[in-house]
Amino acid sequence: MKNNIKSKLKSIKLSSGYRTRKAKEFGNSRIFKYMNKEYLSFASNDYLSLSNDKRIINAAKKALDNHGYSVASSALISGYTKYHHKLEEELSEFLGNEKTLLFSTGYQANLGVIKSLAQRGDFIYSDRLNHASLIDGAIISRGKFKRYKHNNIKDLEKNLTLSNMNNNNMIITDSLFSMDGDIANLKQLNKKAKQHNMNLLVDEAHALGVYGRNGNGIVNSLSLNNKNNIFITGTFGKAVGTFGAFFSGKEDIVEYVLQKSRSYIYSTSLPVSAVEATRKSLKIIQKEDWRRDKLFSLINYFKKNVKSIGYNTLKSNSQIQGIIIGDAKKTIEISNELFKKNIYIPSIRPPTVEEGKSRLRISLTVDHSESDIDYLLNILDTISRNLVQS
Ligand SMILES: Cc1ncc(COP(=O)(O)O)c(C=O)c1O
Repeated sequence: MKNNIKSKLKSIKLSSGYRTRKAKEFGNSRIFKYMNKEYLSFASNDYLSLSNDKRIINAAKKALDNHGYSVASSALISGYTKYHHKLEEELSEFLGNEKTLLFSTGYQANLGVIKSLAQRGDFIYSDRLNHASLIDGAIISRGKFKRYKHNNIKDLEKNLTLSNMNNNNMIITDSLFSMDGDIANLKQLNKKAKQHNMNLLVDEAHALGVYGRNGNGIVNSLSLNNKNNIFITGTFGKAVGTFGAFFSGKEDIVEYVLQKSRSYIYSTSLPVSAVEATRKSLKIIQKEDWRRDKLFSLINYFKKNVKSIGYNTLKSNSQIQGIIIGDAKKTIEISNELFKKNIYIPSIRPPTVEEGKSRLRISLTVDHSESDIDYLLNILDTISRNLVQS
């Protein structure tokens, strides 16, 4: 290894930004088993607790038996099956859009869509708190990348005057922000997009399954689906509880991305087992409203009770709740203290969040109970008292 890499690695190790992984032995939306011990986890994006659902597992097993593991090719060569096609059709219907294209991951979907649609000279306006995959897509597109303050339409407007209305300019945004748990003002963003003849790409990664009628997302809940200038991306690796991702919108735009997207064209297509698991999960998501009802009742319970323990919380009404600690080192310490008390919540630090905004990111899921939340809040309360005394 080159010396400069060694010294760079050493300095990361000395900083509070050094990243490590814990190899769990088992996990679901509520349990994290590590070194033979079960921890109460608030660290999974399996919000509807579907990743271990027997019906989904059986759908995957059946596909494995019939089709083997890998499709061993990209979609445009021989990796596209009738099951991929069915899932695309079912997603289009669920999302109220004309056409849908499956991607292998949400990261690839955002990269591929932005790079296909925006070129050198086009303006891309991005919320400051957007997910890394949206940011990276904007960077590799070589468009003019402009970041506006989080959810601040006035700041967006200030930048907009610079752009040329004839170009393929676009606004890109998460619908439900992955670290703050708040929701983008999509109606206003769409108004601005229309006024300036721009496209609006909305990443529904954290909202799919949880928001909208039958879980069809925030764009749908605002009746913004199937519009000429609005497209969405999403992943199945969160509330859907499976694996894979998609891009959905008007027929022409999706067909264009299929022709152009390098992360689609040059990557192995999803295994049939992942596709069949997702098809099953989407059926369950649409039928089982009780999951969303339970999740929102837990969110309300958490919000009502977290107030009394005196931490700085984010203004989120979603399943993503943040407790801002600020200092990265202190956040790691608190996360370690929680671990000693059998709770798993990793510390979220820069560059994932801004400097000084390190936090505990708490994911609530359907399998949690009110007594799980009570246990967490009690431990956090004790930790904060100890910190004040020390
Ligand atoms: C907002 C957002 N978009 C995209 C992704 C990427 O999705 P995937 O994990 O399928 O690559 C994630 C998750 O990591 C995310 O939080």
